[in-house]
Amino acid sequence: MNREPLLIALDGPVGAGKSSLADEVARRLGILHLDTGAMYRAVGLAALRAGIDPRNEEAVCALVAAGGARVDVRFEGGRQTTLLGGEAVDDFIRTQQAGSAGSAVSRYACVRGYLVERQQQLARSLSMIVDGRDIGTVVLPEAKAKIFLSASPEVRAQRRWRQLLASGTQATLQDVLAELISRDRQDSERALNPLRQAEDAVPLDTGALSFDESVEAILTIVRKAYDK
Ligand code: DC
Repeated sequence: MNREPLLIALDGPVGAGKSSLADEVARRLGILHLDTGAMYRAVGLAALRAGIDPRNEEAVCALVAAGGARVDVRFEGGRQTTLLGGEAVDDFIRTQQAGSAGSAVSRYACVRGYLVERQQQLARSLSMIVDGRDIGTVVLPEAKAKIFLSASPEVRAQRRWRQLLASGTQATLQDVLAELISRDRQDSERALNPLRQAEDAVPLDTGALSFDESVEAILTIVRKAYDK
């Protein structure tokens, strides 16, 4: 592959495998992985910590305007650390609660405007794979390689459930599936930058693929895009 900076947009619904696939693709290509969902989760966490209902747009925007939800990202040894007001919060943003708070606050223009700009600054000069919902459509429309992941809600819920159990979080598969369907709805039906496949994105259904097969499929799409 040639030496021009690589910019890869990886979008898709919750549980499609974006984060772990992006991690492995980044490792294989020797580039960074920016997880933008972590940034929305961090704003959601800021609201919860401040005792604000994430569904209260006015209160969340007042918090953001007052600098009470300052989100930063640092890369150490290639790995992302997500900072909220300077504190590393990676251990606190992976809960279901922070996930739904992140989804709720991601509907607001004040939050999207702030985070999209931060993401664009981060991706400006570095080779990166960026995962999210609106990367190919809004954050990095100029990315040469765009992939849109999908898998059925049942397959995604199974994966999410196993991840939660592995991390010591108790949950039933039924609850995880219900939460996932509600988040799918919130993410694709919101007015602002909804989850949507970019016209020039390559769709990839990971439902029937193993993790390694999915990684290979993504690498093939990236090579094709950059060899053009
Ligand atoms: O990918 P995730 O589950 O960590 O993302 C958490 C929430 O953040 C998700 O429900 C929708 C929102 N999100 C977004 O609106 N835009 C992005 N680029 C990434 C995430």
